[in-house]
Amino acid sequence: MSRRSKLYEGKAKVLYEGPEPGTLIQYFKDDATAFNAEKKGTINGKGVINNRISEHVFTRLSHIGIPTHFIRRLNMREQLIRQVEIIPIEVVLRNVAAGSICKRLGLEEGEPLPHTLIEYYYKDDALGDPLIAEEHIACFNWASPEEMHDISSMAIRINDFLCGMFAAIDIRLVDFKLEFGRLFDGDFSRVILADEISPDGCRLWDMVSGEKLDKDRFRRDLGGEEEAYREVARRLGLLQAEDSGPGEVLDLSSHRSRLRGTPPKK
Ligand code: TMP
Repeated sequence: MSRRSKLYEGKAKVLYEGPEPGTLIQYFKDDATAFNAEKKGTINGKGVINNRISEHVFTRLSHIGIPTHFIRRLNMREQLIRQVEIIPIEVVLRNVAAGSICKRLGLEEGEPLPHTLIEYYYKDDALGDPLIAEEHIACFNWASPEEMHDISSMAIRINDFLCGMFAAIDIRLVDFKLEFGRLFDGDFSRVILADEISPDGCRLWDMVSGEKLDKDRFRRDLGGEEEAYREVARRLGLLQAEDSGPGEVLDLSSHRSRLRGTPPKK
């Protein structure tokens, strides 16, 4: 049996050569990192859940006309994707103040922003993915003005769609990160959505309790990350309650009370 070749290994995913030219296989790991990989760990079953959630989100986005790299899910941890040249910019959309913007600008976490903000970060681990302006992108030619136009208009549409999709399942989309890539056709290329959309790269808060249902549980040592990821998948209709695992509960009340400093409800 021939071994398929590994093209790239990132912090949460591996890319393998695909079955046809122009395709890749994206494998989702359980590994979790934070703070530019200073903190490392695993979230059991995360790869399986993120594969499903990302498949669902990319499929829904394609239905509203957003071009994406997703072709089809192959198995529990793998999906077939189109090979793109990743644009070295992390596009962050923020609806509510949380995370780095609170530190940077002295905002209170949970403050709704006057309007949705788009931020750009330069994708470079050695530099710690610094915040950049569109002027830097133009100056260093990381993306053309036409590509930036496409990226920002797709990002706004994606945010509008996802805010509604999550609101329908009582989840507030606080912020999230997108990556885009160039799909080549001869000498021409167009920008399509790449990477993944999952609780690893989104802040998702329960609308009623304010409970965090995303990677902040791992970043901030809140506990209950497996349950939180599964809860998102379950609400999206991707997991049946009985799929949540034997003896495992989706109720986060013990973690919730730990967060609030009150004893868990029995
Ligand atoms: P931040 O508040 O730490 O800048 O993060 C903003 C959003 O981007 C948050 O939803 C998490 C996501 N994100 C990533 O997906 N990868 C990263 O490396 C960072 C720093 C943030």
